[in-house]
Amino acid sequence: MKDETRVNHPPAIELPDDNHPLNLPIFQNVKWETDTVRESERIARGERPGFFYSRLSNPSVRQLELMLAQLQRRDDCMVTASGVNAVAQTLVALTKSGDHVVFFTEGYGPTRQIIRGLLARFGVTHSMLSIDDLEGLERTLTARKTRLVWFESPTNPINKIADIDAITRLARAHGALTAIDNTAAGFHQHGEFDIDLFVHSLTKFATGSGDVMGGAVIARQGLIDQLRGDFRLFGAHLDALSASIMVRGLKTYFVRYRQQSANAMAIAEFLEKHPACARVRYPGLPSSPKAALARRQMRDFGAVICFDLEAGYEAGRHFTEALQLFARTPSFGSTESLAMPPQMIQPKDLSAEDLVVSGIGPGTIRLSIGLEDVDDLKADLSQALLQGVR
Ligand SMILES: Cc1ncc(COP(=O)(O)O)c(C=O)c1O
Repeated sequence: MKDETRVNHPPAIELPDDNHPLNLPIFQNVKWETDTVRESERIARGERPGFFYSRLSNPSVRQLELMLAQLQRRDDCMVTASGVNAVAQTLVALTKSGDHVVFFTEGYGPTRQIIRGLLARFGVTHSMLSIDDLEGLERTLTARKTRLVWFESPTNPINKIADIDAITRLARAHGALTAIDNTAAGFHQHGEFDIDLFVHSLTKFATGSGDVMGGAVIARQGLIDQLRGDFRLFGAHLDALSASIMVRGLKTYFVRYRQQSANAMAIAEFLEKHPACARVRYPGLPSSPKAALARRQMRDFGAVICFDLEAGYEAGRHFTEALQLFARTPSFGSTESLAMPPQMIQPKDLSAEDLVVSGIGPGTIRLSIGLEDVDDLKADLSQALLQGVR
């Protein structure tokens, strides 16, 4: 064998049968072969286990999918290149021209844009309601055959709590599927409800370190099998390295989520007492709207706090610029604390009326609380509130 050939056929490394690595090696690999064409064909057709091409399936990615399905208490999962990709692909794959989708004003902006823009272009109609308007939901589902009800709880950014039991019962009674974007609640909550599909941005809590992006849809087998064909054609698969980083990150998920929830609770209580702050929304805070419902539905209340600065829009800018320990950036769930000023949080696609429904006011700030020492965070917030709100 000449060296030109040798470098393209590196030596095989056989692992002894009784010698296992503790972590699954990163399958940084695109193509698999078998000993015969027939077996490769059977794998490609899904007639036997095995791998064929990493856009379709990869062991590192599969390990993450199985882990997420188990955490969320459903049969199976598909991961994607980003959370917004999981949202878009799921919506496109579940609907066709003439279908009707219900969603809620208070939710994540790009989801609204996908439904009102992308899906509408392909003839999918929609109704946008308030997450608090259960009567409106019942009226809409009675009046219009609906394919899918898409919701969040807690909603991003304002932390409203959806009545999951009421929403899923209404949807089921009217033959509509339900999908929850469960990113803020995490992988371990809401699994006991009669929800058909769970969608996540993995960019937030999967690693907590904000170094990889990803998304997931988790559901019963029949639904995942139905989605898989379309998802493979979209080609926005997660790569093996990102999947491995997420599997590693999930090992500390519960410790992070619970400690971040405890830190967020302490910060919410602190903000609630501060004269510059109003309308502090944190699901664990007894004064937060629907706190009793949140307690029934959730065990941990998450990292996100929303509140209004009485002094308004410009004060929000000065306040977040004065913060030393909070990064002024989108996203949430990371181990470092983050702050979003009104300038970055105000939706551009909502009418003045819808903006009122959304609950986002001129001085609304979103915080994501990390794993720093709570007293350090309080001291930083105190000095920034003093400086920013002058
Ligand atoms: C509730 C929610 N869903 C989906 C996404 C999209 O996730 P990604 O940023 O991973 O595309 C986000 C991102 O902020 C989000 O907050």
